[in-house]
Amino acid sequence: MAKLGVNIDHVATLRQARGTVEPEPVLAASMAELAGADGITMHLREDRRHMQDRDLALLRDTVRTRLNLEMAPTQEMVKIALGVKPDMVTFVPEKRAELTTEGGLEVKLAKDELNKYIRLLQDGEIAVSLFIDPNIDQVKSAHKVGADYIEIHTGRYAEARNRKEEEREFNDIVNAVKIGSKLKLGINAGHGLDYWNIKRLLQITEIEEYNIGHSIISRAVMVGMERAVQDMVEIIKTGSTKNF
Ligand code: PXP
Repeated sequence: MAKLGVNIDHVATLRQARGTVEPEPVLAASMAELAGADGITMHLREDRRHMQDRDLALLRDTVRTRLNLEMAPTQEMVKIALGVKPDMVTFVPEKRAELTTEGGLEVKLAKDELNKYIRLLQDGEIAVSLFIDPNIDQVKSAHKVGADYIEIHTGRYAEARNRKEEEREFNDIVNAVKIGSKLKLGINAGHGLDYWNIKRLLQITEIEEYNIGHSIISRAVMVGMERAVQDMVEIIKTGSTKNF
């Protein structure tokens, strides 16, 4: 059965909006774990717009499941990761002006740097995932640079405006997953997933873990963190969205 990684960045977004000490991302992470999350994901952005270095250190001390650190492939971030030792680093492209991560990595364009950073992290016993679009060339390049995992960007699938677009995006994801699986890459998926659009993806049994943030935190605002996580866990377990 697939796993759920809960991305708690938006808890920090709310805290930073007022520059106060609440809501506390560490508490959100613990509650997500108690409600059945298999892992906690956070993105330490270069501009520190939501998560802070202090959050990363505290989460490393308190997360009892697995901590996945999303970050840009830069020397500064690799140094931070090697100091903190999350269970996994997911490299994502980062642009200062974007609201959220917009696209996957262009792996080939940065292959030498990626290869170097991946080795450094693996030597520090940190697994490395690359966030890529569902594109066969990107999957092959991720394998070539030595990644352990890929995280397939599901944003275009999530934003499909009609059945035809959804079909095309779904098929792209299936094809990318098949190739990744053949190449023995671990496969995660995420971005834009919610309590409805995840259902179809659950047919793709090679996907090991879903990283979901916005929809869970949005629901948590209304019904509480525990219930929001439990609802998503139930969908992933049963493959059914009928109660949601
Ligand atoms: N995976 C990656 C690599 C991301 O950058 C994000 C957004 O921070 C997510 C998953 C979660 O996306 P969403 O918040 O849309 O669920």
